[in-house]
Amino acid sequence: PPAPALNLDDIQGDVILGIPKRVEWFLFFKIVNPAHFKKHLKQLIPAITTTNDIVKARKAIDDHKKKGDPGLIKLSGINVSFSQRGLNALGITDNLADPQFAAGQFASAQDIKDPGQVVNGAFDPAWLPQFKSHDIDGLFLFAGDSEATINEDCDKVFHVLGSSFKQVFKVHGNVRPGKEKGHEHFGFLDGVSLPAIASVQTPLPGQLVVPPGIIVVGADGDPNLASRPSWAANGSFLVYRQLNQLVPEFDKFLLDNPIQEPGLPPAKGSELLGARLVGRWKSGAPIDITPKVDDPALAADPQRNNNFDFSGVADQSKCPFAAHVRKTNPRSDLTNLFGADAVKPHAINRNGIPFGPEVTPQENHEHKTHCDRGLSFVCYQTVLANGFEFIMKSWANNIGFPLQKPVVPGFDPIIGQNGNDARTMQGTNPDAQTATLNLPFEFVVAKGGEYFFTPSITALKTKFTA
Ligand code: HEM
Repeated sequence: PPAPALNLDDIQGDVILGIPKRVEWFLFFKIVNPAHFKKHLKQLIPAITTTNDIVKARKAIDDHKKKGDPGLIKLSGINVSFSQRGLNALGITDNLADPQFAAGQFASAQDIKDPGQVVNGAFDPAWLPQFKSHDIDGLFLFAGDSEATINEDCDKVFHVLGSSFKQVFKVHGNVRPGKEKGHEHFGFLDGVSLPAIASVQTPLPGQLVVPPGIIVVGADGDPNLASRPSWAANGSFLVYRQLNQLVPEFDKFLLDNPIQEPGLPPAKGSELLGARLVGRWKSGAPIDITPKVDDPALAADPQRNNNFDFSGVADQSKCPFAAHVRKTNPRSDLTNLFGADAVKPHAINRNGIPFGPEVTPQENHEHKTHCDRGLSFVCYQTVLANGFEFIMKSWANNIGFPLQKPVVPGFDPIIGQNGNDARTMQGTNPDAQTATLNLPFEFVVAKGGEYFFTPSITALKTKFTA
């Protein structure tokens, strides 16, 4: 029989479609009085944004744009998620059948090669103290058109929950200004290639289509369907990562290592190197389609900007094997070896936002970061070991991946990590594809995070409130 359609009124809004946003606050909290918290949270359930709310909001945005009105409409959303520690605090003892979630992200830090050191036999990641505090029971997401709008939502949550909870840490994310809208801090357009969820979204050419159960717990295709409690259905596991980006240092690295080709000016060689590290030009145009020059029209065309699979050439003349988008979605590199469905279990739905200010003239001049900036990385999946953790361990940090290539590909230059040790990659120079490029420091520095479960509205009503 056909699988039942997903209940979009039951799934929180950020999981599949993402809450539309110019700004987003991440409020990490501790539950102080579980009984009061459960009672007060009940009052907040109507304020929690669902997937259907997002469907309506996106339609409202489209209608507004069609009217040619340049202003933003007032719009905001609230989502709530819990760590294993939060479930424990609330007396929820069911096992969600995800060992990485149960252990918490701190326990994975060494395994995913975050920088840090061993102290008295235990790994101590170089994380922000807030993420090492063992105080984070949950996470409220506030996202919307402006700080003023989401501040109203945040005030409401504080007003209703009162002293039953307390803030541990708040991260303020903001979409970058002007032409940089939608671009992460290194300057590259983000959020281009996301999986399409079968039965919910119509795929664009080249887009990976995944069964809903890869992102939504309990849905068709959830590999752990049988071992979860029934109330976990329509939830999802949320990975939060606080990733600092060393932007002036990254820019200097590109300046110092331009790809040298006859007739290519150094500035263009630096731009080409950047594109080959990411696998897309800053505009978003994929280098597998346009390897030599940026093509903004291609980047802006959703019918074409994701329609590639690295199968055109066997070598790295178009795209290095270790380029970020190739490591994190290897497309034909994997399906040629393991079959058409091989990438699907590892799909994640990314919904992060940059944090921190624009690079200052002084930072630019000194090639040195003085203020924290980076990516509040968020992704959703039903199995952490298949999604985020798999991508980090088996792909980004695995120098031998993609497999069976004529050279050792090396680290994902954007997110690959090697603990405290340096990294290398091959294939950045199309004319010398076995040459090694030293990556003398990590451009992206992991500062911590946590694993959360984003329950359905039904679960909020039945398990998380009283
Ligand atoms: C794609 C940047 C962290 C997984 C991309 C793209 C950019 C980018 C520019 C291409 C645009 C797009 O397809 O959306 C960054 C930066 C990061 C970061 C600057 C850190 C500061 C991560 C992490 C993961 C990840 C931690 C997962 C472990 C992906 C995936 C894609 C992607 C799956 C889509 C690849 C595809 O389908 O072609 N990223 N990313 N990224 N990134 Fe990242």
